Amino acid sequence: MSAGRRRLHLNAFLMEAGHHEAAWRLPHSNPRADFDLRHWIELAQLAESAKFDSLFLADGPALIGTGEFRPPGQLEPLTLLTALSQATSRIGLIATVSSTYNEPYNLARRLASVDHVSGGRAGWNIVTSAGADEAANFGLDDRPGHAERYARADEFLKVAKALWDSWESEAVVADKAAGRYADPARLHGLGHEGRYFKVAGPLNVERPPQGYPLLVQAGSSEDGKDFAARHAEAIFTAHTTYERAAGFYADIKARTRAAGRDPDGVIVLPGIVPYIGSTEEEARALARRFDELRVPQYGLRQLAAVFETEPSAFALDQLLPESILARPKLEGSQSRSDLIIDLAVREQLTVRQIISRLGGGRGHFEFVGTPEQVADTIIAWFEGGAADGFNIMAPALPSGLAAFVEHVLPILRGKGLFREEYEGTTLREHYGLPVPANQFRG
Ligand SMILES: Cc1cc2nc3c(=O)[nH]c(=O)nc-3n(C[C@H](O)[C@H](O)[C@H](O)COP(=O)(O)O)c2cc1C
Repeated sequence: MSAGRRRLHLNAFLMEAGHHEAAWRLPHSNPRADFDLRHWIELAQLAESAKFDSLFLADGPALIGTGEFRPPGQLEPLTLLTALSQATSRIGLIATVSSTYNEPYNLARRLASVDHVSGGRAGWNIVTSAGADEAANFGLDDRPGHAERYARADEFLKVAKALWDSWESEAVVADKAAGRYADPARLHGLGHEGRYFKVAGPLNVERPPQGYPLLVQAGSSEDGKDFAARHAEAIFTAHTTYERAAGFYADIKARTRAAGRDPDGVIVLPGIVPYIGSTEEEARALARRFDELRVPQYGLRQLAAVFETEPSAFALDQLLPESILARPKLEGSQSRSDLIIDLAVREQLTVRQIISRLGGGRGHFEFVGTPEQVADTIIAWFEGGAADGFNIMAPALPSGLAAFVEHVLPILRGKGLFREEYEGTTLREHYGLPVPANQFRG
């Protein structure tokens, strides 16, 4: 890899039997993959053998759907990451944890602990949890409003960063002769009193090896982008076209600059769902096989959830109803609902066609083609100012990730765009990001 050349970052977005909603029904799929630790270790070791920057586990504190048509649950991600950290040694370990349904003190020490036990490989995807069903598990009749969730997340981050800084790395002196373990002047109380949290501190875990776990964010609404511009070091995002991705990329880099931060310090990773075949026809046949296994009721329920309505609001062979096309203000997932309406209007899709298009990646970019075509598309977005890297979302796991590693990565390496070997040991080093300064150290 030539020094100084901009390098592609790849994150393996892992999801039970695969991202396609019907992946568990494939003959070679393990329908109980989600609770099978060997499955996850196999995926983590495959991604590490391919020198991916990181792997990622999504999460939401509620059952996904009803469980009737798709595996609805999963292992708690930080617990799973801790196990994977012992089955791997270099790959970054990123998980989603909600800022709406957690408290800063507990979450700060859990993430700091994952960073310690993994030798500096932890990452936190900060989500505000858009689903109404999650709120019901935390004593709420409905989730807090969209803006409110982001305001809480903002204060949450400020407190978490202060907690990670509150136990300076140099605090421990361990002077056995003098009987002095730590320098109390390097353990800092916060005395934080804000709108959402009152936290004394210091944290009871030493500053994480990375200073802070890598801070990832995944909301692309106005609130989401402003939050990302202030806090995010990596951004996960979903776009159905190059043009939308490039627009988002330019916007988020400008907002980051306006927030007084270095735009190169924010790594933008759109998702891609690759259906790979040795010929185009073979790739299309693969995509068709997934599509034929879908159960439309599932897609319809997911669509209704995004638009905070009932499945009965939609007619499968009709276009989206006027009530949806009018873009009602939603308190849930704003950017995803916009993305779906734009796709439906741009291509004049019926509801049946929409849920088929969302079946593989829930709105992320789906690409069907040969390894060369997948590689060309990735390079076009990377060199065309639409991405710093990608969330690789294999439609089926492990087969789809194995196909990407075996057939696409060699092409990207051949063009000098992706690492042959890990240069660093921490997640931040993989992304080329510094350890943040400690706010208590002048
Ligand atoms: C790659 C990616 C991964 C995501 N993972 C999660 C997740 O694990 N849990 C979750 O509740 N939301 C997840 N989201 C959804 C976002 O957190 C957010 O709700 C959504 O993008 C809408 O945000 P917005 O209302 O700010 O546009 C993810 C989004 C993307 C693009």
